[in-house]
Amino acid sequence: MEIIKSFFCFISFAVLLLFTSMAEANRAHHHEFIIQATKVKRLCETHNSITVNGMFPGPQLVINNGDTLVVKVINRARYNVTIHWHGVRQMRTGWADGPEFVTQCPIRPGSSYTYRFTIQGQEGTLWWHAHSSWLRATVYGSLLILPPAGSSYPFPNPHRNVPLLLGEWWDGNPVDVLREATRTGAAPNISDAYTINGQPGDLYKCSSQDTTIVPISVGETILLRVINAALNQPLFFTVANHKFTVVGADASYLKPFTTNAIVLGPGQTTDVLITGDQPPNHYYMAARAYQSAQNAPFGNTTTTAILQYKSAPCCGGAKPIMPLLPAYNDTNTATRFSQSFRSLKRAEVPPELDENLFITIGLGLNNCPKNFRSRRCQGPNGTRFTASMNNVSFALPSNYSLLQAHHHSIPGVFTTDFPARPPVKFDYTGSNISRSLYQPVRGTKLYKLKYGSRVQIVLQDTGIVTPENHPIHLHGYDFYIVAEGFGNFNPKKDTAKFNLEDPPLRNTVGVPVNGWAVIRFVADNPGVWIMHCHLDAHISWGLAMAFLVENGSGLLETMEEPPADLPVC
Ligand code: C2O
Repeated sequence: MEIIKSFFCFISFAVLLLFTSMAEANRAHHHEFIIQATKVKRLCETHNSITVNGMFPGPQLVINNGDTLVVKVINRARYNVTIHWHGVRQMRTGWADGPEFVTQCPIRPGSSYTYRFTIQGQEGTLWWHAHSSWLRATVYGSLLILPPAGSSYPFPNPHRNVPLLLGEWWDGNPVDVLREATRTGAAPNISDAYTINGQPGDLYKCSSQDTTIVPISVGETILLRVINAALNQPLFFTVANHKFTVVGADASYLKPFTTNAIVLGPGQTTDVLITGDQPPNHYYMAARAYQSAQNAPFGNTTTTAILQYKSAPCCGGAKPIMPLLPAYNDTNTATRFSQSFRSLKRAEVPPELDENLFITIGLGLNNCPKNFRSRRCQGPNGTRFTASMNNVSFALPSNYSLLQAHHHSIPGVFTTDFPARPPVKFDYTGSNISRSLYQPVRGTKLYKLKYGSRVQIVLQDTGIVTPENHPIHLHGYDFYIVAEGFGNFNPKKDTAKFNLEDPPLRNTVGVPVNGWAVIRFVADNPGVWIMHCHLDAHISWGLAMAFLVENGSGLLETMEEPPADLPVC
């Protein structure tokens, strides 16, 4: 009897232990995000910026792989808003993805919506941002995903984590900048400053008071989690006299490699280790533009933060040491960097394919419509800027989200005839592209994928208007970048260069200027997923398309039901 009793006692203790450790392993984190106008002073002027909880940048979320996030977004601003969890796979929870009119209707002023999702198998740095108009200029923050409780990084444990959000600041209302561009058809105004954690830094007027400072001790190693949250600009980032060891990107681990400078397109993240191995002093960390488009205006200023040794001799008025930055058009450095990426482990790249798409990406120019006054056609030579994938300029619906239309079988919202290749073959990266190829057609065209299909996409930049490095982001998936190169993709000779062993897994690929990139993924997440250029100017011009991934068989291959509070249009 005694033995049986103690046996039961043991069992119940074990069960209790199991439950507590499970609770610890899979925690739910509850947050409230209040979207509101907040006074923010930058570059000598105060603006009424839209923020989350009055913070700029917004709150930092730290969770463990396997945890669940429950974020109630309350809209107290005067704009429609949605929040996107950039890079989160959202397995079966597409309703929580966030892009406006793609997976949900906007959260109207005065309303709220609760995003609920679980992180599954992703570790490293992601971020969140508004996905409506240009609100993400000030509505963004970091999302740090630590290894599950009880496990560790695949590299020596850093002494500290330091998220560095690179951003862009307008001396004005970013929503108005977009509206103005939409009205005139011209390119939107460039920003007035770049920022690190919301601060322009010492090289801008009225800014040195608040420059971001990153403390470090001699011998200490810190993990910098660099996020490019800028709207329209790929950026170089470097620290004076210190080397980076790159260990991850887009919440996937990499085989470590060292470099002096990194480059990130908007949307991309890079985790680097940096060690306090230099004479104690103050060193600038700096970011400035990587500009691959020709003859396009861009901000040529530099944002700085300070890496400050705790034992550095104080004050004296000496300026921090300034690093050398790559030249604005240094495509060689950008290429060398992206070609150093290898996934840490052997990758599970689908070797066989069910779908092989070839998608051209680039800008375009629409002739001025007959009923438009000339002030609405201020693009080059009296045109209006546009952009497309495979000659389709993506138009969002306005009365239903694509996902709702799909889920409830509402006709007339989209079609599923996105072309698997460009309608006309031409010398995509050649120097004299016929003007007749400059005008795409508008459409809300999706590409249907069967559950589980193995997909390859060749993303091909074009020279229409100008070639440019486009950061292409796919929602709902991570993909392997199996190859990239310059010129026109040539399956005969370029297929031999594919890395199917250890290619990097990412959610955003910088397609080389005047070049191409090949990505692969398995369509194992049902829903509607937008793929777009993460330069926000290009999204509004239509540089996007969307995949409709069908349900598979059984519950685990089927999208969840929409939450009860999902906004309606
Ligand atoms: Cu980071 Cu569709 O976005």
